[in-house]
Amino acid sequence: MANNIAAPTEDLASTDAETTINHPLASSEAPLEDGATPSNDSTYGDDISSTFSVTSLIRDYEIENGRTYHAFKAGRYLMPNDEVSAPNCNCSRIIIDFRNLKEEQDRMDIAYHAFRMLFDNKPFFAPIGDNPQEIVDVGTGTGIWAIDVGDAYPGARVRGTDLSPIQPIFVPPNVVFQIDDCLEYPWTFKENSIDLVHTRDLHGWVVNDWVTFYKESFRVLKPGGYVESQEFDCMDKCDDDSLPPNSAVHQWFQLLNEGAVKSGINLRLKPSDLVEAMEEAGLVDIEVKTFKLPFGPWSSDKKLKQPGIFTLVSMLEGLSGISAGLFTRYLGWDMNRLEVLLAATRAEWRQKKVHTYVDVCVVYGKKPL
Ligand SMILES: C[S@@+](CC[C@H](N)C(=O)[O-])C[C@H]1O[C@@H](n2cnc3c(N)ncnc32)[C@H](O)[C@@H]1O
Repeated sequence: MANNIAAPTEDLASTDAETTINHPLASSEAPLEDGATPSNDSTYGDDISSTFSVTSLIRDYEIENGRTYHAFKAGRYLMPNDEVSAPNCNCSRIIIDFRNLKEEQDRMDIAYHAFRMLFDNKPFFAPIGDNPQEIVDVGTGTGIWAIDVGDAYPGARVRGTDLSPIQPIFVPPNVVFQIDDCLEYPWTFKENSIDLVHTRDLHGWVVNDWVTFYKESFRVLKPGGYVESQEFDCMDKCDDDSLPPNSAVHQWFQLLNEGAVKSGINLRLKPSDLVEAMEEAGLVDIEVKTFKLPFGPWSSDKKLKQPGIFTLVSMLEGLSGISAGLFTRYLGWDMNRLEVLLAATRAEWRQKKVHTYVDVCVVYGKKPL
């Protein structure tokens, strides 16, 4: 595994929310017995919180509001890349110890596990066969997806690209990371050479022009190769009346989107946006899968409980990093004001009665033979 979180297994996806994430302090507090009531029944628990050489230019991160940001192409991406320590976390019957975790990187890894569980442990859905040769993960983050896919397909070379050199050094021999700006076209990959181009969680923050992105994917894909995007619509959804009036969670999403628009990016997404972009790029046999990703283990659908826990943890963990750039640079907020809203947002998410989720979609399309 890429970092210090134990691998999710199929067991993890299939059992109820009763899992200890294997981390140094995880045993400091025993999980609750089945049916036991947490000390504060209305919330999930008080302590839930949230290979290559590189030049010094790339390693010298930019610092703003106490957070570090990528230095290569500084300013292009608005989220941090840092290794800030975070507090311990224990969520009802799932216990995660964050003492040694690294904030933004671990937010990405925790979110990765949420997606894996939501997808029944599948890293991707595109039917690329059992013997792919070349797989690319664009905007790979910590590289956790690339490493897992490299393990699963030892006959394939898996390349992950990113602006930040935050990937581990010890990786499977068939996995390679490269610092690359995916918005600089043409990409370095040869035409007609790739079996699968994969993206996850790039919408808006990284890619706003999907047509150009998919046209470049089309160029580098082999005939019969696929591009797959696993993305979500950045807006809270709620199917009942569980959100309080003037909900902090809802305000946070609205303000984040307002800042995004001011910065020139769009965090809202419909699956049809990706379908239309793929069609315009010439991709065929396009398939769409949609999912609801809950914030917290509130769903009556057992399969959604653990993705919900991981999503809640990743959001509590990453909320400040996700918000800082847009709120301070584009909405004119200072960090003190922001932290008040974030505290209210976290408190609301922790309440079991608040049933929010986001819409996730997986869209894949094929380069014709
Ligand atoms: C939200 S994270 C998603 C990471 C990973 N795909 C995942 O799902 O865990 C977005 C990643 O894209 C990277 N990124 C941002 N702009 C980029 C660009 N122009 N080219 C390549 N990577 C970029 C960021 O450094 C970050 O690691």
